[in-house]
Amino acid sequence: MEHVYHIPEQKEKETMVFYTTILKKMKILVATEKPFAPVAVDGIRDVVEQAGYQLVLLEKYISRQQLLEAVADADALIIRSDNVDKEVLDAAKNLKIVVRAGAGYDNIDLAAATAHNVVAMNTPGQNSNAVAELALGLMVMAVRNMYDGTSGTELLGKKLGIHAYGNVGRNVARIAKGFGMDIYAYDAYCPDEVMINDGITPVHSAEQLYSTCDVVSLHIPATPATKGSINYALLSNMPQGALLVNTARKEVINEDELIRFMQERTDFRYVTDIMPAADQKMQELFAERYFATPKKMGAQTAEANINAGIAAAKQIVDFLQNGNTRFQVNK
Ligand code: 3PG
Repeated sequence: MEHVYHIPEQKEKETMVFYTTILKKMKILVATEKPFAPVAVDGIRDVVEQAGYQLVLLEKYISRQQLLEAVADADALIIRSDNVDKEVLDAAKNLKIVVRAGAGYDNIDLAAATAHNVVAMNTPGQNSNAVAELALGLMVMAVRNMYDGTSGTELLGKKLGIHAYGNVGRNVARIAKGFGMDIYAYDAYCPDEVMINDGITPVHSAEQLYSTCDVVSLHIPATPATKGSINYALLSNMPQGALLVNTARKEVINEDELIRFMQERTDFRYVTDIMPAADQKMQELFAERYFATPKKMGAQTAEANINAGIAAAKQIVDFLQNGNTRFQVNK
């Protein structure tokens, strides 16, 4: 009688994955229109190569076609604000995981990722200090009249409102304490005790935050609920000489209403790390009280690139080797 040994089905699968990994190195693609610092890329490469995978780089790409071609044989993808939509996922036939090296993942079509059986993750907290430092930097620049040589004001003793008390908001609070600001925060998802423990005064509506504070720093994510939510009615609550600092997303601002508000309220200033669609018009209309960085700079530090980039690479390795989905955002 012939003896045939059957590998149990699950074991068979595991064996196949094992041999596929050995025979064909998995490709980890870093696709960043705005590249990481070289030192961060070196760190990502170390993690990827030590795990036995191959790192492929697509930096500063200028056409979508380049991205579509690069993802074609990628097993895993690391991105920043790069758009991963259905078209990209259709083109990425081998893709198992995409990690947004950063906090906001509004640039990934989560439903399409799920439909393509692709795990999507972010790296929360890894670049938050960098963004918070920039928020304070923009604040100083605005209250010093964009460094135009005239007398400005100080942050000491001013009321700061933190709109959303997540990783970035908490870092803003930590730094603003050093400036001696009086700090308030509104976050529907954060218990009061967390803010109180940090020495922050919790408020219970956006309207209350905007009517209380001289400066508001925005840290809300771009979601269907928040898009366009910073509008004329909300801004109208702010006191004379108020300042809005946006290091979050441009989509949360209702631009037409912001422009209308700024035309009426000639005391109001807006500084942002995310250039509005109406940048040109706003420069012409509000030269001395409007500023936008030419490219999103909040997370653009060597430290943030290293933290977020290496975290992304480690999360990919941990997922491919151990199935760890801790930071998955399309569960
Ligand atoms: C984030 O969501 O982490 C920040 O907006 C940083 O985005 P960036 O990686 O495109 O600079």
